[in-house]
Amino acid sequence: MENSLDIKSALEFYLLAGVDETIGDSALSLSAPPQKVILPLNIKPQTAIPASAPLRQATTELAQATAQACQNAHELCAKAQNLTELRQAVENFDGCALKLTAAHTVFGDGNPEAKIVLIGEAPGADEDRVGIPFVGRSGQLLDKMLSYIGLDRSKYYITNILPWRPPGNRTPTGGEIAVCLPFLKRQLELINPDYILLLGGSSANALFDNQDPISKLRGHWLEYPLNNGKTAKALATFHPAYLLRNSGQKAKAWADLLKLHKEAVG
Ligand code: URA
Repeated sequence: MENSLDIKSALEFYLLAGVDETIGDSALSLSAPPQKVILPLNIKPQTAIPASAPLRQATTELAQATAQACQNAHELCAKAQNLTELRQAVENFDGCALKLTAAHTVFGDGNPEAKIVLIGEAPGADEDRVGIPFVGRSGQLLDKMLSYIGLDRSKYYITNILPWRPPGNRTPTGGEIAVCLPFLKRQLELINPDYILLLGGSSANALFDNQDPISKLRGHWLEYPLNNGKTAKALATFHPAYLLRNSGQKAKAWADLLKLHKEAVG
């Protein structure tokens, strides 16, 4: 009994400390200094490692698998005639390995009839646990900020580029984004919003296919063409997780929200 209590407290402690998953059999210290590689005296370090045949082949196979998964995603999206069918298609989709490490598929939340859609990057640990976007600390900050301009989830729809959490909240790869993007774009087509609020650089870069930093993109209206000929007005702002770490930038995010309010709510 004492032992099981100890284990429970240890697990709770790990969760509080942000250690929320195991990804290998043996422990790995991320804070330990990198191990020095001692080369035998007669071997000189190479500046560029020539791509070996197996490496080239693996790279080609990965690119082919990604292209195939993108094509499958497009085909599934074309078949989905409403959000329920699209959610089902995402849940059944096996073209993205992130699904294997995620606890839940996190699709979207809020009012699918709303004229405003918010887009984040990917679920975090809390979202992965409950299967709903933006329920953790950054979601709570976002809810609070939006409440000041009269918005709650009955007045907007919220989703992410990726429906699965990248392990340890790592940055998603270009391949993962490419494979999941058709599902996001189909969601937008089905919801047909007038306004899109892009939370952070990843969603702005993915939707507008650019590499511009969020500091440059934020605060300017962009035009996102929907497939029915309509153009939704899109505004990028800082991601709430960034604002939690950089509270000095909240004033700029607030200015962005006022811009959205003036155009879309007020
Ligand atoms: N960050 C995101 O980008 N999305 C979420 O759902 C949660 C945190």
